[in-house]
Amino acid sequence: MADGGGGMATDGAPQEDMTSQRPASLSHHFLFMRKFFKHRRKIASIWPSSRFMARACISQVNFSQAKLVVELGAGTGAITQAVLASLNPRTRFISIERDADFFQVLQERFAGGVGRQIELLHGDVSHLTDLLRGCGVQDGSVDAFISGLGTPSLPPAARSGILTALQWAAKPECVFSNITEIPLYYLPFYRRHFGSVRFEFVPLNIPPGGVYHCRHAIRV
Ligand SMILES: C[S@@+](CC[C@H](N)C(=O)[O-])C[C@H]1O[C@@H](n2cnc3c(N)ncnc32)[C@H](O)[C@@H]1O
Repeated sequence: MADGGGGMATDGAPQEDMTSQRPASLSHHFLFMRKFFKHRRKIASIWPSSRFMARACISQVNFSQAKLVVELGAGTGAITQAVLASLNPRTRFISIERDADFFQVLQERFAGGVGRQIELLHGDVSHLTDLLRGCGVQDGSVDAFISGLGTPSLPPAARSGILTALQWAAKPECVFSNITEIPLYYLPFYRRHFGSVRFEFVPLNIPPGGVYHCRHAIRV
């Protein structure tokens, strides 16, 4: 299910930021916490990412050059909001979330904005290849994947859905930046799947965590 956001300047020139973004509210945060206590493994985090975590997660994206950025596991939009604040109006931005209640929050917060482009997809990353192909993404065209997923502890189908999609969709220098709340614990997992991995520690988050910045996915 795709729900397109706003448009772009027809001449491709940067245009004024007129996105109808709504800020996160405390009710979104408590929704997140309730979901976590109900479905710990699926939600993977007790509280949305802090702005420091969001900033770290997008720190490797070259927003002046990127043509296509994809977010996985957007939740209530903590990182989505940071991407939108940095996005070049010429960049396509696709954001994917599986949980129906979170997806509704994302729609309320971000859809319908003009001036910036966000395409919200309600779907499961186990089918990431189909989701991306379904909205016209071409081979080797993604500049950055921003992931809020607990990738290493996802069910095998979802993990392989992500890694398979990375193989065909990523540009050679594409970055895959994934948040974590257990600093460095999953480093061996990321090293197994990527040729280059750098960890960035983010102390100011609930709980303190970090981001794995990965490049060159290894064929699975
Ligand atoms: C740790 S939360 C991160 C949320 C948000 N990005 C943040 O940083 O605050 C992980 C999110 O991934 C979503 N998720 C988990 N498994 C998923 C899947 N297989 N497909 C799509 N989204 C998924 C969850 O519903 C949740 O919103």
